[in-house]
This record gives sequence, structure tokens and C-alpha cells, in this order.
Amino acid sequence: MRIHLRGFEMNYEDTGGTGVPLLLIHGFPFDHTMWAPQLRALAPAVRVIAPDLRGLGESTLPEGGASLDDYADDLRALLDALGVERATVGGLSMGGYITFAFYRKYASRVRGLVLADTRPQPDSPEAKKGRAENIALVQQKGGGALAEKMLPKMLTPKTLASRPEVTEAAMTMMARQPAEGIIAALAAMRDRPDSTPTLVQIKVPTLVAAGAEDTLTPPEDARALQSAIRGAQLMLIPEAAHMSTFERPEVFNRALADFLRGMS
Ligand code: MLT
Repeated sequence: MRIHLRGFEMNYEDTGGTGVPLLLIHGFPFDHTMWAPQLRALAPAVRVIAPDLRGLGESTLPEGGASLDDYADDLRALLDALGVERATVGGLSMGGYITFAFYRKYASRVRGLVLADTRPQPDSPEAKKGRAENIALVQQKGGGALAEKMLPKMLTPKTLASRPEVTEAAMTMMARQPAEGIIAALAAMRDRPDSTPTLVQIKVPTLVAAGAEDTLTPPEDARALQSAIRGAQLMLIPEAAHMSTFERPEVFNRALADFLRGMS
């Protein structure tokens, strides 16, 4: 589905249905199709709304690029347009950074949180340097080169060696992202604020999930995130790396369905 909001065209999926919707925010450099296993498993019992962030997937990039607050404002505008007052908001990695920004700005719109393979801290000086290198790589060689560089961190070595359909789906999704949207997202992540002070403000049920073999946001980070948010639950997903929700959807979906049931 497509909608014009805040100066650009947003592509999104909305499965429809009753009850509190689940808004799922994709990671980087992905698009909403990374949530295909959740859309399949949860709908139509749960209304799932999964947008492509500005500049990524099939959403266009407006002038001025993107900041994390822009992404959060876009999502609020989407919920407004769909007449959704409150949603459970979930994000993976960059989607988690955006979830923190959304909660900071629009806590009253949030019924619960799902934080997958993400962290509240801002980029370190070294990570900021890495963003600059990746921006240069995409400018010179395109998004495919960045996809090749990132793939080994997204899935476990075992999946990369033995599940070609998952590996190819992840690679294809990353490689097709438009260069200007990738660059905008890299700059937005580089410039993101520290969300650590937000954690004590979280007063809604929260599920923290992470791949047990995630090296980008390792399980220690997930444990620290869980203990910083009052009452948060933790799910470590075995045999999964950074794209845990995509690599082991059957395990993640069970935890997610239990979490959503527990809230209703
Ligand atoms: C993601 O999966 O969204 C990215 O790895 C996040 C990041 O680069 O910080």
C-alpha cells in the first residue's frame, strides 16, 4: 500500500484486523519485507503494520534526507493516517533506535515495546568513522558493495553455509536498497542521540530479543537493556545472529505471540 505523508511516498503493509496493532520497524539496510515471517505468522489474528522507512524499500526519500526523529515522525503520521491511536511498537537494530526516538516523542501512542538486536547507546567515535567509510563505499561502489560487506555479520556462519534460501533473501534485500536511502540512514544512525536516559522512562511491557550469536549487538547488550527497563522480558534466540527475527522466525514468533497475548 502507498500513502503520501510528510513530503514523500511511503510504502507499507497493513494486514488489517482488530485489537492493538503491532507496528514493526525494519533494520538497516533492509525494508519491510524482513518482517515477512512475522506478517505470515501473526496476521490476521494480530493487525501488523510494516512500513518501508523513507528512502528504503519502495518509499521515496524527501529533500533533506533523514534523522531518527524524521523516521519517528513519519511513523506517527502513518498511525494518524490509519486512525491508530496506540500500537505495540517493535524494531530490529536501527528499527530499535527509531523505536527509542518514537517512545521519547510519542509515549502515549505506545502500548508495548519489542526491542530486537538493538542498543540505546549512540555511535562511538570509531563507529562514526565506520559510517563515513560506509558512506564512501556506497557512493563509489553502490549498495551491493555494502551488502556484501555486511552479510557475514547478519546471519550465523552455519546459516550462511547451509541455508542458501535465507542467505539469498537477506542478500537480495540488502543489495536492492537505493544508494541515497542507505546514505541517509547511515548519517541518521551516526548522528543519533544517546537513548540510555530514555530507558528508565519506559513504563510499558517490553520484550527484548537478540540472536545468541549476534556479534553486532551481542547478548550482553540485550541483558543490559533488559535490566535497564523495568519488568522487561528477555528472549535470546539460539542459532541466530543480528537478523535474528529473520533467521529463526519460529523461535522469535513464539516469544512475540506469547508477549502479545500476555498484554491483552
Ligand atoms: C541494523 O541492523 O539496523 C544496523 O546494523 C544498525 C547499525 O548499523 O547500527
